[in-house]
Amino acid sequence: MNISDQQIRLFQEKVLSFYTQHGRDLPWRKTTDPYKILLSEMMLQQTQVSRVIEYYMQWIERWPTVESLAEAPWKDVLKAWMGLGYNRRAVHVHQAAQTIANTFAGDILQAMEHYEKVPGIGLYTSRAVRIFASNADIVTVDTNIRRIFIHEFSLPENISSKELWSLAEQCLPKDQSRTWHNALMDYGALLMTSRKTGIRPLTMQSKFEGSDRQIRGMILRQLLQCSSSLEELKMITKINTSRLQKILEKMIQEGLISLSNNRYSIQE
Ligand code: ADE
Repeated sequence: MNISDQQIRLFQEKVLSFYTQHGRDLPWRKTTDPYKILLSEMMLQQTQVSRVIEYYMQWIERWPTVESLAEAPWKDVLKAWMGLGYNRRAVHVHQAAQTIANTFAGDILQAMEHYEKVPGIGLYTSRAVRIFASNADIVTVDTNIRRIFIHEFSLPENISSKELWSLAEQCLPKDQSRTWHNALMDYGALLMTSRKTGIRPLTMQSKFEGSDRQIRGMILRQLLQCSSSLEELKMITKINTSRLQKILEKMIQEGLISLSNNRYSIQE
């Protein structure tokens, strides 16, 4: 890709000056604690900032360290997560905390360098935590940042992630990784929106009404009250047995719930 130093400098100035004027004051930007940043990043996956703020504040108050979260009963973690949606992330957050506490002696930054061993953590999140916690001189690209680059440099939407990440590296201002990535997030979320640029995310969220996600939420809310039989869950969800069984099997596989004596319950 042929992008001049001049183009890059102008782009950096534009994004950074937008951030100086319009940057958002978000609670996870007031800390460099890797645990709190990890929590915020896991909550922010597929969920809007405005929704995450309240949950983030409650969680860091209730479980202020990775060890405290690792030791929390699964049921409490799930209950606290309900409402954020994509509840599988609650399993990941809990398992990630346990892996970090047990395998990495609580050292989150170390764990982020070996993120393939940590449940629910991918390249994006591991990099984001290292950037926001320690201003590491590395880049990360999420759906917002991808959209900015495609728009700014008129790239094809099917650009490979290798090329995209390499361009991101070219654009990174030295020693300013934390500020730069915060600035990109705000520039993407507030100015270069999907609607404005016409650039769609690689994966679209499916409609919630009538979706498996909605049924999964109903099932979890019921099971947090009491364990239930297939028949009871059928009455609550009002879907056919074969679809319900498929959803339940998947939830068992993911570690959200368990089945014993023909009754479904929240995994112990
Ligand atoms: N989306 C993902 N990570 C974010 C962050 N740190 N700030 C704002 N939006 C985000």
